[in-house]
Amino acid sequence: MCGIIGVLSKDSVSERIFDGLSRLEYRGYDSAGIATIHDNSIHKRRSEGKLQSLKSILEKDPIQGYTGIGHTRWATHGSPTYHNAHPHTTDRVAVVHNGIIENYQTLKDNLIQNGVVFSSETDTEVVVHLIDQELRNGKTPELAVQKTLSQLEGAFALAIVFSQDPKILIGARRGSPLVVGIDENNLFLGSDAWALAPWTQKICYLEEDDVVVMKNDDVNFSYTIFSGEGKIVSRPLKNLNLATGAASKGVYSHFMLKEIFEQPQTLSDTFLALIDEKTFETRIELPIDFTKHHSRILLVACGSSYYASLTAKYWFEKYARIPCEVELASEFRYRDPVLTENDICIFVSQSGETSDTLAALNLAKAKNCSTLAIVNVPESSMARAADYCILTLAGPEIGVASTKAFTAQLAVLCVLGLKIAEQRACLDKQNLFEYFKELLHLPKLVTHVLQDVSVFDALGQRLSMASDILFIGRGTNYPVALEGALKLKEISYIHAEAYAAGELKHGPIALVDKTIPLIAISPNDNWFEKTSSNIQEVASRGAPIIMLTNDLEFTLDCRDFCKILLPKTGSLNNCFIYTVAMQCIAYYTALHKGTDVDQPRNLAKSVTVE
Ligand code: F6R
Repeated sequence: MCGIIGVLSKDSVSERIFDGLSRLEYRGYDSAGIATIHDNSIHKRRSEGKLQSLKSILEKDPIQGYTGIGHTRWATHGSPTYHNAHPHTTDRVAVVHNGIIENYQTLKDNLIQNGVVFSSETDTEVVVHLIDQELRNGKTPELAVQKTLSQLEGAFALAIVFSQDPKILIGARRGSPLVVGIDENNLFLGSDAWALAPWTQKICYLEEDDVVVMKNDDVNFSYTIFSGEGKIVSRPLKNLNLATGAASKGVYSHFMLKEIFEQPQTLSDTFLALIDEKTFETRIELPIDFTKHHSRILLVACGSSYYASLTAKYWFEKYARIPCEVELASEFRYRDPVLTENDICIFVSQSGETSDTLAALNLAKAKNCSTLAIVNVPESSMARAADYCILTLAGPEIGVASTKAFTAQLAVLCVLGLKIAEQRACLDKQNLFEYFKELLHLPKLVTHVLQDVSVFDALGQRLSMASDILFIGRGTNYPVALEGALKLKEISYIHAEAYAAGELKHGPIALVDKTIPLIAISPNDNWFEKTSSNIQEVASRGAPIIMLTNDLEFTLDCRDFCKILLPKTGSLNNCFIYTVAMQCIAYYTALHKGTDVDQPRNLAKSVTVE
């Protein structure tokens, strides 16, 4: 989390830094700040809260300078106040940081003993004072940074500027991503390539422990990359082709709503990249042999991507008859899992940058497992690190709560499961033909669900008064219930829990009373009768029931029963349809509560710290 930008230029940089930060705000929006070097001194502007407040400050009180850095913060150490906002500075040096310095307390204690006075509660400030001390002792900026980095433990991407060397910008990374952008009259640093895309698409990705020293000698711009051992190294230059248009909400009041409504298109794009619409055969060549004796799939992810992976387990085991385990990346990476060369590890991530998932990927690689990344961001760290990658074609997702990226993950996982089933000879051509045909019909069904959202709007108004909500589902709709509860919590701040419907009576039913609505996902499938009984059990204890189903007949003799009818679908498609309904319920509930739907409190889109 946190987004950082650095610019070394022949022109004034503050507007560009602000522009870059606007593309990085998805990484955090607790506070923001910019520092430039002008007349051999550091000029800085900072503000609490979203980037918009920094904008007003810069408008009233602009800053000059041809070298500068910027930051948008997701608070880790120290509350989201003005004083904790980056850049952190002394007279000599200014630093922006993404990551966590784990040994900061020891370093801070030593610095305090040496008379240093701290002005923030952040871990980052130790970096500033360590560099400052080296500069005071006569070290060059390069050496001062190198000496400081050797003392740091933890994760960081840093951008650093110096008042006495206004034509130098230094970047360093360990654990957190950092990209160098190059053109004739400027050099850039950014947390991702998208932030730099409108200025240059010629970029190079720094590798673990790299330090880049960028210089402007009045004639040329040059940069030198040093490896962790201090040796000069070259990293491949890439010419990207990233979209540059500023994402806009169009006619929608929120990015989240726009992204919900984009799903017929994003699902169609994702399916058509994987399935031939004329022959109903897959276009993907499986790069991994899933038929090997003892092979097993491990799906590893966090958050919504974890729930997409849980859904995939149902498909992989049912259709491809291959053992499949689903792991939370943050647990997997630390619990010393038993991994063998026969294991195929699939990492699912919208951003491709989530720190825990990336660390899990590196662990699997170290154990010689085959690795496949399913990500939405091309050129992301996971896309580059895995042996193979399949892209979800959801396009940039701006709303912090994942919607279209989640359904695109489901789409890729579903086709992948069927393809593995084909490779393992578990499904014949006719079965596959029918399933692919069903999937290609899905975008139309989603359009149908979104044609009239007034029912979700009305329900959202009611639910916005609740303080707790329960969700239940079975089969692939159990992960959908989990995702529905997560979506609701994230953007409406209403406490929500989801259970496998059959689990309810093993404890959670004690929570049920007439103030806690139950949202039951219950299409007329193999589990319909069972889930109907669970609904009855809750209704008879007085809870308001909201049932999402495609069953026309089902009725419930209870005081407070609301049935939302969704289209009839095949068995593969129904979890997509119910997901879209869950997204709409969460969206309209938050809208009626008046929360910040696109940038909910305490969250960030890309979780690059543990
Ligand atoms: C929820 C949400 C998060 C992410 C999680 C993993 O709406 O977006 O739970 O799913 O932080 O992020 P990625 O998919 O980028 O690895």
